[in-house]
Amino acid sequence: MKQIVIVGHGGQEKLQVREAADPAPKPGEVRIRVQASGINFADILTRKGLYPDAPKLPAVVGYEVSGVVDQVGSGVDQALIGTDAVALTRFGGYADVVSVPVKQVFEKPAALSHAQAAAVPVSYLTAWQLLVVMGSLQPGQTVLIHNAGGGVGLAAIDVARHVGATIYGTASAAKHAFLAERGVHETIDYRATDWSVEVDRLTEGRGVSLIIDPFGGTHWKKSYRALRSTGRLGMFGVSAATASKLPGPLRLGKVALGMPIFHPVALMNGNRAVFGVNLGHMWHETDMTADWMRVVLDGVAEGWVRPHVDRSFPLENAGEAHTYIEERRNTGKVVLTT
Ligand SMILES: NC(=O)c1ccc[n+]([C@@H]2O[C@H](COP(=O)([O-])OP(=O)(O)OC[C@H]3O[C@@H](n4cnc5c(N)ncnc54)[C@H](OP(=O)(O)O)[C@@H]3O)[C@@H](O)[C@H]2O)c1
Repeated sequence: MKQIVIVGHGGQEKLQVREAADPAPKPGEVRIRVQASGINFADILTRKGLYPDAPKLPAVVGYEVSGVVDQVGSGVDQALIGTDAVALTRFGGYADVVSVPVKQVFEKPAALSHAQAAAVPVSYLTAWQLLVVMGSLQPGQTVLIHNAGGGVGLAAIDVARHVGATIYGTASAAKHAFLAERGVHETIDYRATDWSVEVDRLTEGRGVSLIIDPFGGTHWKKSYRALRSTGRLGMFGVSAATASKLPGPLRLGKVALGMPIFHPVALMNGNRAVFGVNLGHMWHETDMTADWMRVVLDGVAEGWVRPHVDRSFPLENAGEAHTYIEERRNTGKVVLTT
């Protein structure tokens, strides 16, 4: 098989193609001939040495694939062989073959291409956990989706539309027309203006019911201040670390130092809630995430789940794909195809 290995921390040259023996599926696993692998921002953070949950290098990253099952391990239904599948992979997704526990494997909706299917698991599960499971978003409420033009951002728009919420989204200006088409009611250019002033104007000073924030550091303080009474802040990333010019570990330290500390009395008197989401720490709850995944995959046929692949790159060009995302050129998902 062919894999993309991160050989060390650094630029896109640290992603190297390697040939290896095909893995045999262990008991309870299926082996998938990968057609498409989803790229996530965490993969870029791993390459840069900024991801606390990264595997030890050298490593093959990749959390999600779509492809065809070609072998199953003992204890797994033989009928799965030859079927189209979409799967969550705890690393190893940047490859043309991967073996995965069957609990993390789902039937690919026929309406989706493999590239579209590979764009579903991480983004939609994260969005579902943020907006529905923990954010408790209700019809008629307002939601502010930061980084609305990214993979998780577009998935969150679909979930918020499904719930029936009013959607505000921050993104680079070039993405605004597309976001409006996707259902964002108000787009905000957070790089050119102060988004909190705009939110204040839009909500007539009341604030937002739910804010999802992947930036981290001091940005979480700002988002917290923009909540309405009964509002919730969902924290789920530290993208701010990549924007800093400091050397590796210092960047994470700076973001950590800027983080808010929420006092229970302030939460109580403010009628606000804060919560964190890290899908990468849900591997012990695969029954729960599988239930969410089935809701999301049903959503494809129901029409509210609309995975958007901005660009596909050949697996060998994973470095180019990373650069494309780092330069903020992606609207939605970027996938690797074999
Ligand atoms: N906790 C979890 O379980 C979980 C799961 C998935 C993702 N995440 C987090 O959610 C965020 C989005 O992830 P994603 O995979 O969907 O990626 P993504 O949003 O597609 O990432 C690329 C986009 O991020 C924006 N961005 C913001 N700061 C940036 C920076 N410093 N450098 C480059 N781009 C930056 C850019 O869009 P604009 O300029 O238009 O804003 C860019 O196009 C990341 O922080 C990721 O770590 C967390």
